[in-house]
Amino acid sequence: MAHPSVLLFISSAFAILHAATAASSPVGVNWGSQTSHPLNPGIVVRLLKDNGISKVKLFDADSWTLSALRHTGMDVMVGIPNDQLYAMSSKYDNAKNWVRENVTRYVHDGSLTFRYVAVGNEPFLTSYNSSFLGTTLPALKNIQRALEESGLGDQIKVVVPLNADVYDSASGVPSGGLFRSNIRGLMADVVGFLRSKNSPFMVNIYPFLSLHDNKHFPVDFAFFDGTGQPIIDGGRRYTNVFDANFDTLVNALKKIGAGDMEIIVGEVGWPTEGADNANVASAERFYGGFLKKMAGNEGTPMRPGKMEVYLFGLIDEDMKSVLPGNFERHWGLFTYDGRPKLEMDLTGTGKSRGLTAAIGVEYQEAQWCVMRRG
Ligand SMILES: *[C@@H]1O[C@H](CO)[C@@H](O)[C@H](O)[C@H]1NC(C)=O
Ligand SMILES: *[C@@H]1O[C@H](CO)[C@@H](O)[C@H](O)[C@H]1NC(C)=O
Repeated sequence: MAHPSVLLFISSAFAILHAATAASSPVGVNWGSQTSHPLNPGIVVRLLKDNGISKVKLFDADSWTLSALRHTGMDVMVGIPNDQLYAMSSKYDNAKNWVRENVTRYVHDGSLTFRYVAVGNEPFLTSYNSSFLGTTLPALKNIQRALEESGLGDQIKVVVPLNADVYDSASGVPSGGLFRSNIRGLMADVVGFLRSKNSPFMVNIYPFLSLHDNKHFPVDFAFFDGTGQPIIDGGRRYTNVFDANFDTLVNALKKIGAGDMEIIVGEVGWPTEGADNANVASAERFYGGFLKKMAGNEGTPMRPGKMEVYLFGLIDEDMKSVLPGNFERHWGLFTYDGRPKLEMDLTGTGKSRGLTAAIGVEYQEAQWCVMRRG
């Protein structure tokens, strides 16, 4: 036990120094919590600040997490998990209580700033077998009504984070974009409702999965440093799948009369292990190009300009299902205990000093077991 208090003092002095100079990032991050050894939320909040992150997206409304975010000035998005959609849809009182307990009380004491409430998480994903098709829109409407009745309807917007599998393109180019045929009517209703409330469309776009799912996918098209074979679509030229995918959505929206709707990217990122192309070098290549693009406010061919995006994800989650692949537990910018996994510049300007590690993490004493003889 060598002078722990001195060590603690030195490391926090460093952190304060660094926090004072941490340039702010143009992107937010997803903070998932499917971990067997969760970090203390206070440590994570400090990690966010030290890395210049000011927008965070949560998948639930855990009160321990929200308490740690109070009085930080951070923009917070809370979420309603899919398994609560039925409750929110079936009884208005459930939605009302959810909003009261998980939003209103933090807003009224001025301790938290919410911009969005996410209703469900990719509820229309094909692999969910239509389980949430009936409950998502009624839940959305009930949460919206509860926000309005609390006087927060203008300030806080409802969104439904959807996977990019809700649309595709028959022609293979963005202009062919259409919502998936089995949910086309539902998507028109959801979009119509969101639009009537001035809420944005939220989509999760994963160039890694485009590459992973298709052996013939041209590797360079998953990144942002140019390709020998751009896609030409009418007068537009696409050099990366992120832009092509995003504009496919713009076209799908256009076809249902919502081509002007704001689009937020709820998740985008690259894993570091667990599949071909899931490695540190590819992740650094992806984020390097992506963050530079975000800092430069390039946008896409159809939507030039500033974009709101949330990286996935902050920390490795070792309890995520590996059904989609072993890479699922390796999406973090940081390890489970808050150590940086990547050389990256979250500001996208080339001026930052890289990621800053979590401070104050406590470890259990090292222990091991041995096989019993026999
Ligand atoms: C508030 O959110 C938490 C965490 O997501 C959830 O467990 C709880 O049921 C919610 N409260 C209400 C009243 O629905
Ligand atoms: C969807 O259906 C498949 C095939 O019937 C099944 O294996 C899978 O468990 C189902 N998934 C869910 C989320 O219900």
